[in-house]
Amino acid sequence: MSLDSGCDNLLERLRDPATKLVVLTGAGISAESGIPTFRDPGEGLWAQYDPQELASAEGFRKNPKLVFQWYAWRRAKVMAAQANQGHMVLARWAQRFPAMTLVTQNVDGLHTRAGSSQIIEMHGSIHILRCFDRGHEGSWDDLPSQWTLENLEPLRCQICGSWMRPGVVWFGESIASSDMEQIGEALANCEVFLAIGTSGVVYPAAGFLAEARRQGAFTVVINPDSAARGTSHLFLKGKAAEVLPGLDAALEVRISKK
Ligand code: OAD
Repeated sequence: MSLDSGCDNLLERLRDPATKLVVLTGAGISAESGIPTFRDPGEGLWAQYDPQELASAEGFRKNPKLVFQWYAWRRAKVMAAQANQGHMVLARWAQRFPAMTLVTQNVDGLHTRAGSSQIIEMHGSIHILRCFDRGHEGSWDDLPSQWTLENLEPLRCQICGSWMRPGVVWFGESIASSDMEQIGEALANCEVFLAIGTSGVVYPAAGFLAEARRQGAFTVVINPDSAARGTSHLFLKGKAAEVLPGLDAALEVRISKK
């Protein structure tokens, strides 16, 4: 990673552990863990599957079995994956920067597995099940131990009998108001904003960088695709699992010199 003047500016700000840092992650941070993104051409999930069919309440009502199977398949992929160096650096930064807020659009739980805590999982979690009609919690552990995609039947709620669905936010559904409140507060006080591995097209997350910038934050985008740079002050082109360790190492050097 080349350390241009923008990067120097970022490192200078990060030198202070009191810096109020807000980090927003998207599917790209988990790409190096083998989890497909949504919109990368060819391999992205939405290039292969229809979001209306698989990520909406209407789609679920129409075909609960298909939707349940799709999320069971994705969860199995996540369970077999490992957190990568990008997740690890952010977990270390949460220790370094006590005022850091980590917001993720990902439902995979890999930030938690890397050791981060107090993550705002604004699109929910694939590891949670709740029933479609009344929101009663369930568990993936209730699946038969030897399930395959072909024989998998969706689970029913043990309390009210309705279908179980994943605890993720689907298209047309709202982000939890408590999450939006916390995010709003963090953005209002933010000094450095980092958007990592997100295409920046799904709202409300897509509006966070502009909001942070409006509030006076220094804004940074980390992404291999230049189209994602948006209105950021600094664009670091590359994979999260490479750029973040590079940035972390440069920060260590900067701290040790002064
Ligand atoms: P997208 O699939 O829209 O964007 C992924 C971004 O990651 C793209 O900009 C890629 O260029 C970038 N990328 C790919 N490989 C990367 C790598 N190794 N390191 C860093 N970046 C990389 O995913 P999101 O922006 O997260 O919502 O999508 C937002 C929401 O849309 C998701 O949370 C999901 C989806 O529909 C719901 O399911 C509600």
